[in-house]
Amino acid sequence: MTTIARAIRSALLTADPRAKCFATRQVARDWRMGMLAWEFDVAMPDQPAWPDAPELLAPGQMPKRRKGGSERGRIALWHSLAHIEFVAIDLALDMAGRFGAEMGREFVSDFMDVAADEAMHFALLARKLEQLGSHYGALPAHAGLWEAAHATRDDVAARLAVVPMVLEARGLDVTPATLDRVRASGDESGAKILTRILDDEIRHVAAGTKHFLRCAERTRSEPESLWQSLVKRHFKGHVKPPFNDSARLAAGLSRGFYAEIAH
Ligand SMILES: [Fe+2]
Ligand SMILES: [Fe+2]
Repeated sequence: MTTIARAIRSALLTADPRAKCFATRQVARDWRMGMLAWEFDVAMPDQPAWPDAPELLAPGQMPKRRKGGSERGRIALWHSLAHIEFVAIDLALDMAGRFGAEMGREFVSDFMDVAADEAMHFALLARKLEQLGSHYGALPAHAGLWEAAHATRDDVAARLAVVPMVLEARGLDVTPATLDRVRASGDESGAKILTRILDDEIRHVAAGTKHFLRCAERTRSEPESLWQSLVKRHFKGHVKPPFNDSARLAAGLSRGFYAEIAH
């Protein structure tokens, strides 16, 4: 019987996107079926394996995306979303594999479910790109998405504060406007994909918040102020409005967390 840590590590070290999705969903299934030993006998890699394409560029080097409904603009939108989901697979795997030993079985189950969702999101978006005559890897992508993981590799509370509760929560804020635009352009299949992603992401933020609250309880910290200090220390960007307060609240993230540090 292989161990949970070895299975997760090998999915992280799979570079090919299709193979990474397959490996991730397999680990999630094996874990659910009780086919992986509860043992953390290998460390997670500092950086997961990624394919040669897309080329990763610093945010400032990214070509400007033109607004409007041009074919190229649409492909650029779906490509950037596919890249976010691709990195999200590794973020969820790393969460479970790196912090599972200290956080316990429910934590691993929750984040393996997240990883399987992200693999599905990526697969839907990769197929969408192919229907548009493109593919994942055809355009450059943001290099910075792993930074938050690296910055919080030694502290599970910081990782939860920044990845699900800032970055994924940001997805809840911006997706409705994208969804409206996609729907207005008559792209019903695209709207369906985004609706599904939005629903799933509420659960991802909720999982992050649930386990963050446990961390706060363990250290007898006040959750809102612990979250604010960790975000200030570990997150380089801004927590900024407009907020999707209702989706955030559905995920357990009340304004008491983010209103005070928003700007
Ligand atoms: Fe996702
Ligand atoms: Fe997610």
